Amino acid sequence: MRLTVAIDGPAAAGKGTISKAVAAHFGFAHLDTGLLYRAVGAKVLAGGDPVAVANALDPADLEDEALRTPAVAQAASEVAVIADVRAALVDFQRKFAARADGAVLDGRDIGTVICPDAAAKLFVTASAECRAARRYKELRDKGLDVTPEAVLADVRTRDARDSSRETAPLIPAADAVLIDTSDMTITQAVARAVAVVQAALDRG
Ligand code: DC
Repeated sequence: MRLTVAIDGPAAAGKGTISKAVAAHFGFAHLDTGLLYRAVGAKVLAGGDPVAVANALDPADLEDEALRTPAVAQAASEVAVIADVRAALVDFQRKFAARADGAVLDGRDIGTVICPDAAAKLFVTASAECRAARRYKELRDKGLDVTPEAVLADVRTRDARDSSRETAPLIPAADAVLIDTSDMTITQAVARAVAVVQAALDRG
């Protein structure tokens, strides 16, 4: 069954984990749209022009593990403010959403701008402290040299920039179901998300 699931929310709220689990549960394809902005950000850090790079983006550019670093995350958040960068990435995301086998897209503006007609919309959030603690552990486990204070500051800077930009700011769609994962286990958050998508499927 073809169904589009839009999952938005701030950095490190658990969107990625929930999106992968929902996609696996229903057999849908999954696109982490943050990777598009990260790939553009990484190329800009290497000296590229943001809009030119966004227009020439190749799906193979999304595979790079180096896209996961805090420096690239900040660069992604900075290029994401540029309306022409966002416009260059719309088609790729909408084509992905239209896949015959169903699709889960996670990001910041999926339910509001990219797929306003998505059958199921989730807004996954958590307190900044919770998100920073999780992101700190993740980065440390990868062997990156970070401090909890720096990770919290990074999360706050990105939240402020992502929420206050003029084009496609981070805000829940009016019809999104809110999931606050601050006091939830991953299993609980995934079960809640699966139930929301199942309800959309049942509505047909
Ligand atoms: O989801 P992420 O942390 O990988 O995203 C990195 C940055 O990319 C994020 O701070 C803002 C931007 N982004 C966006 O503006 N719109 C999206 N749909 C996804 C990400």
